[in-house]
Amino acid sequence: MSKVLILGSGGREHALAWWFDQYGCNVSVAPGNAGTEELLGDNVNIDPNDFEAVRRFAMGKGIDLVVPGPDALVVNGIVDYWREYDLADDLGIHIFGPSKEGAALEGSKILGMKFARRHGIPVPDFVAFDSHDFNTNLHEATKYLGRFIAENRIGAPLVLKADGLCEGKGVAVCDTPGEVLAAIKELPRFGAAGEDFILEDRLRGDEASITVITDGKEYRMFHPSTDHKRRFDNDKGENTGGMGVYAPTKVVPPKLERMIEREIVKPTIRGLRKDGIDYKGVLYLAIMVQDGQPYLIEYNCRFGDPETQAIVPLIDADPFDTMMDCIHGRLGKHPFKRRDAYSCSVILVHKDYPAKRSRGRRIDIKELPESMDDVVVFHAGTMAKKGRVYTNGGRILAVTAVSEDGHAAAIRRAYQQVEDIRFKDRDYRHDIGRSAL
Ligand code: AMP
Ligand code: GLY
Repeated sequence: MSKVLILGSGGREHALAWWFDQYGCNVSVAPGNAGTEELLGDNVNIDPNDFEAVRRFAMGKGIDLVVPGPDALVVNGIVDYWREYDLADDLGIHIFGPSKEGAALEGSKILGMKFARRHGIPVPDFVAFDSHDFNTNLHEATKYLGRFIAENRIGAPLVLKADGLCEGKGVAVCDTPGEVLAAIKELPRFGAAGEDFILEDRLRGDEASITVITDGKEYRMFHPSTDHKRRFDNDKGENTGGMGVYAPTKVVPPKLERMIEREIVKPTIRGLRKDGIDYKGVLYLAIMVQDGQPYLIEYNCRFGDPETQAIVPLIDADPFDTMMDCIHGRLGKHPFKRRDAYSCSVILVHKDYPAKRSRGRRIDIKELPESMDDVVVFHAGTMAKKGRVYTNGGRILAVTAVSEDGHAAAIRRAYQQVEDIRFKDRDYRHDIGRSAL
C-alpha cells in the first residue's frame, strides 16, 4: 500500500487526503484537523515548516510520497531541501511540487508577471516597483501617480499588489490615485513581502481558477472553477481566503477553456522549459475574463483552497499514480478523466471571519441521510477532542456536493447539508454558484 504524507491543516489538505484515501492509499496528514483525524486516524503532530522534522518522519514511516499543501512550503524550498538529501533517489521518498525557482512564479508577483509578459501571455498592463527599497519605490510610485493627476485623469483604476506572500492580503483594488497611495503606505506592515510592489491596470470581468498538473511537458487540466472571494452575498464586503466554489464554472465555457489552454497554459509550460526551469507540480492560474479575452492575473504553484474541495471530487484518476507520473516525467501513463458532473462547495465560517477566528465551539454535524451520499464535509479550522469536534479557525468547514444532474442539484444538496451543521456564530454565503443558474 502506498504511503502518503500531506502537509497542511486546511480544507484543501482534507480534500487531498480524501482523494488519496478513495484510492486505497495509506495517508497521514501533518498537522491536519479533526476531519483528517476522523478520516484517517493518523494526524502527525509536526510543523510542516520544519523540513527537518518532516524528513525524519517520512524516513521513519517509510513514506512514498509527500504532498505539500500551502504555498509557503514550496516557495520556501521544501522540494529543493528534498533534493539536497537525495531522498527520492536514495530512499524512494518522493515529493510533489516545483522547486523554489519554479515556485517563485507565485512567491514574487513581479517575477510572475514579468515571466508571463516575456512569454507573450496576456496580462493586464503593469508597472513594477522593485528597487528592494520601500522608500525609493514609494517615491517612484508617487511620481507615477502624479501623472494621473497632472493629466487630469481623475480615476486611476489600478490594483496594487505586494510582491511577496502576504497570506492573500497583499492586494488592493483601487479607484483613485489617492487610494492607491494610501494602500502603498500600508505595505510596510507586510515586512519584506511588501517592500517591492506592482501596479496593474484594473480589469473588469468574471474570475476563474484554472488548475493544471504538469510534469514539465505534458499537462492535465481539472475542471475550471470559480471561487467567491468576497465575504458576503452578491460579492459585497472584503476579500477573504475564499467563501465557496462551484465547478465547472460558466465563466469558462469549453471554447474559452481552449483559448486559455492555447494562450496561457501552453506558453507558461513552454516558457518554464525555455527558461531552464524543471517545473513539476500544480500550476493554478487566476484568470479574469474581460470582453471575451482571458487575462492571467496571478500564478500559484500549488492547489487552491477552496478550489480543491470542489474540483478533486470531479476527477476520476488515482492521485498517487498521477503525481508520481508527474515526478517521473511520464504524465499520461495513467488515465486522468474529468467526470461529467457538477460540484458546489460552501465554506462555513465564524460570523466575524476574516477579522476573527473561532476557537473551542462545539460543532454538531447531523448524519448524512442516505440520499446525500454524494456530499462530503471537508474540515478546515477544526480540532478533535475526546471524540468531539470543535471550531479552530476562521474558515471552519467546506461542504461539497456533487451531482450529475446539473449545477442546481449540486447547489441544493450542498445547502441542505449546510443547514444540518450547527456551531455558535456559524455563517456562510447563500449564493455560491448562483451565477451559474
Ligand atoms: P489575487 O490575490 O492576485 O488573487 O487578487 C485578489 C483579487 O483582486 C482577485 O481575486 C481579483 O478580484 C482582484 N484583482 C487582482 N488583480 C486584478 C486586476 N488586474 N484587475 C481587477 N481585479 C484584480
Ligand atoms: N483560492 C485562493 C487561493 O488558494 O489562493
